Amino acid sequence: MGRFSSRWSPYSAATAFFEEQAAVNLCLLETKYISDITGTGMRSHYCGGINESHIDQEVTLCGWVHRRRDHGGVIFLDLRDRDGLSQVVVDPDTPESFALAEKVRSEFVVKVTGRVRRRPAGTENNNMPTGQVELLGKELEILNAAATPPFPLDEHVDVGEDVRLRYRFVDLRRPEMINRLRFRSRITSYIRNYLDANGFMDVETPILTRATPEGARDYLVPSRTHQGSFFALPQSPQLFKQLLMVSGVDRYYQIAKCFRDEDLRADRQPEFTQVDIEASFIDEASLMALNEDMIRSLFKDVLEVDLPEFPRMPYAEAMERFGSDKPDLRIPLELVDVGDLVESVDFKVFAGPAIDPKGRVAALRVPKGGDLTRKQIDDYTKFVGIYGAKGLAYIKVNDLSAGVEGLQSPIVKFLGDDIAMAIMERVGAEDGDIVFFGADKATVVNEALGALRVKLGHDLGMLTSEWAPLWVVDFPMFEETPDGGLTAIHHPFTAPSCTPEELEANPAGSLSRAYDMVLNGTELGGGSIRIHDETMQETVFRILGIGDEEAREKFGFLLDALKFGCPPHGGLAFGLDRLVMLMTGSSSIRDVIAFPKTQSATCLMTQAPGEVDEKQLRELNIRLRKSAKQAEGNKADGE
Ligand code: AMO
Ligand code: AMP
Repeated sequence: MGRFSSRWSPYSAATAFFEEQAAVNLCLLETKYISDITGTGMRSHYCGGINESHIDQEVTLCGWVHRRRDHGGVIFLDLRDRDGLSQVVVDPDTPESFALAEKVRSEFVVKVTGRVRRRPAGTENNNMPTGQVELLGKELEILNAAATPPFPLDEHVDVGEDVRLRYRFVDLRRPEMINRLRFRSRITSYIRNYLDANGFMDVETPILTRATPEGARDYLVPSRTHQGSFFALPQSPQLFKQLLMVSGVDRYYQIAKCFRDEDLRADRQPEFTQVDIEASFIDEASLMALNEDMIRSLFKDVLEVDLPEFPRMPYAEAMERFGSDKPDLRIPLELVDVGDLVESVDFKVFAGPAIDPKGRVAALRVPKGGDLTRKQIDDYTKFVGIYGAKGLAYIKVNDLSAGVEGLQSPIVKFLGDDIAMAIMERVGAEDGDIVFFGADKATVVNEALGALRVKLGHDLGMLTSEWAPLWVVDFPMFEETPDGGLTAIHHPFTAPSCTPEELEANPAGSLSRAYDMVLNGTELGGGSIRIHDETMQETVFRILGIGDEEAREKFGFLLDALKFGCPPHGGLAFGLDRLVMLMTGSSSIRDVIAFPKTQSATCLMTQAPGEVDEKQLRELNIRLRKSAKQAEGNKADGE
């Protein structure tokens, strides 16, 4: 007991709300009676903790009035706390309590002492752990009144997220929300125990620091004591954990807050948490094995799920077959290159990218997709447009035995019969299929068809399993920036799998010793073996266009450390929020964070970020420029 079933989803649990307390309670480590907990405080039990074993005992419960029902003569209070719900009955035999019970309203905070009794036959609720019993309340005390809640707690489904975030303290009272927090706590506790048991040491690293490049913008904090200078909040503890390896910590971990000012999505927050790990004298095989074992045993312990094997897939293969470096392997659809077949067709849309070294022409065969309507195809065409695709050519396979006559498509006439049939053969088309095409720069085709593949997989119910993990390995060291320069695919401290000379000779073609753990199409974590050699680190900085002076100025401490006996080392960081999101089946990262930010990086509850007063700015020697909007307003005002 005390486990989530693998099918547990907060959403299904939410539908029936507290009536599904059974599901709710599944996530308790062990349902502890409060009397087992040291320092019981004002009550003897949690509301969700009473059952038939307590019949005839006197108990005291504290909690929020979830519902109050007046049944002419008796008043029923459903009393709620973080563990569940108990039914309390107050009758006129206890006139003082009865008078108070008449006054209480939803979300009042009350304390009730009384005797547990069996519910009368026919009134039991088998869906609730406390459903066989009720509390005959003798003494009722109102601990605090409550204003009418901003939204009813059991009709939350239609409540906008803005209101929920504005009143997060109320939103978190909902069982599915508090259960996600509890579940998260259980995951961190499991991970801590696992890493402790494997010799990892929990070390905290600074929040006020210098920029650690992870590819996003920094959040900056002005220094009052050094005017004109700024701290950067860490995008990750990357450099500090490497320095801890130089110090001989040997095995480090931290549940670390990271800050990145980047475009937000459903699985990104500006402030998020990593399970950050680093170890010395270890290679990638051992690091991957250790982390895989941790995730595997976490799933087993918390969800009772046996994760399948974690295949290892080179980055190049992932891009070619799935158009993504975080492929969702639950979806049995693959991209197939057809560029070589269409190089000389009289259809520029295909022939252009086919002969462009940076172009790609790929097909995506969807078994039994021939039933898609014109409208659905138009919608998918719009969908790929989000990723920059200029169109979505398709061929419906009606009857292969009839040759091109059996193909239905706006493009077959441009391709010619032989080529159309050669494509059908290449993708393994069968009657009833639809084959989609992407032709553009490889980056566009990969993104567009990669996303379409996932969307189709979900829309057409093609998922072949519940969990599909993998390691993506053999990443390139660098990728090209739009201005033709190079940038590190991971971060500039990742070790290449070649010598400094080889790297310098062919930076764009060099691979790194990096690895990402991917689960169901989400990048759960990523890491690498690091550079521990000064010459190699300087080479990488040089290739990235970071000159000696800049390297010294920004990373002098790292270059120094590499001189003072740096062991070979490597590590990885998991996105904890993403892990919890996947394990609870939540659709947004915000649902597994107590106080998340909105998509535009604000906190609706505290109204952060906020303006600061002039005095604070003066102390920091900061004068604000007029924002573009203010300037415009002033112009309109005739300034
Ligand atoms: P990386 O940048 O890949 O690596 O981050 C590691 C993991 O953190 C999660 N993550 C995020 N989660 C929520 N919101 C975000 N904005 C966000 N950004 C990243 C992802 C990702 O896989 N220092 C390296 C790790 C290492 O090399 O050891 C790093 O930070 O799940
Ligand atoms: P057009 O000749 O532009 O009308 O395009 C003919 C077909 O090719 C239409 O079905 C378009 O959706 C499709 N198409 C256009 N551009 C692309 C592209 N870059 N990749 C894939 N299909 C495309």
